[in-house]
Amino acid sequence: MPGLRSSEKKLGQLSGIFRDAQAFRGMDPDTIVYRVWWWEPVPGGTEGGLFWGLTEIQPGSVGDEYYMTHGHRHAVLDRAEFYGTTVGEGMLVLRDESGRSWFEAMKPGSLHYISGRVAHRVVNTGDVPLRFVACWPSDAGHDYQIAGGKGFGARVLRQNGKPSFTLTEE
Ligand code: F6R
Ligand code: ZN
Repeated sequence: MPGLRSSEKKLGQLSGIFRDAQAFRGMDPDTIVYRVWWWEPVPGGTEGGLFWGLTEIQPGSVGDEYYMTHGHRHAVLDRAEFYGTTVGEGMLVLRDESGRSWFEAMKPGSLHYISGRVAHRVVNTGDVPLRFVACWPSDAGHDYQIAGGKGFGARVLRQNGKPSFTLTEE
């Protein structure tokens, strides 16, 4: 099908995202953290079109911090997005322009509406690959600066064997 794409994100491409730099340095940079398959039925930037994607995040952690996506907000700021979880357990971490951070629990069947202007990142807190589908406007674009290692004001860490959403000063 024309416009079908895929990409994989390895640990080495996520440098500066995880808080435990020492644990990060001890890990294989070629380890795949997540893969994305998506369909662009119209060219990127087309007004009025939609893109559809599937993301699969592996289970794992860097130190006590679970594997997660890089995270971004949309380059055209007011463009919203839907996420829908199909397999696994996780947390959708969100941050609005005022700096308020919060999360939504992800589990099979959970649907998430991400308003425009809100940065979004997904964390796999389970023992199996976390899969979710996404639908976003074809002219949204991506701005990855928001999460350049910092920027979400929150981290999901394993504490006493359980995921804990922790607000940070970042
Ligand atoms: C599209 C979207 C998802 C992510 C994917 C990977 O707007 O939010 O398809 O692109 O989950 O995450 P990032 O892009 O943060 O590496
Ligand atoms: Zn997005």
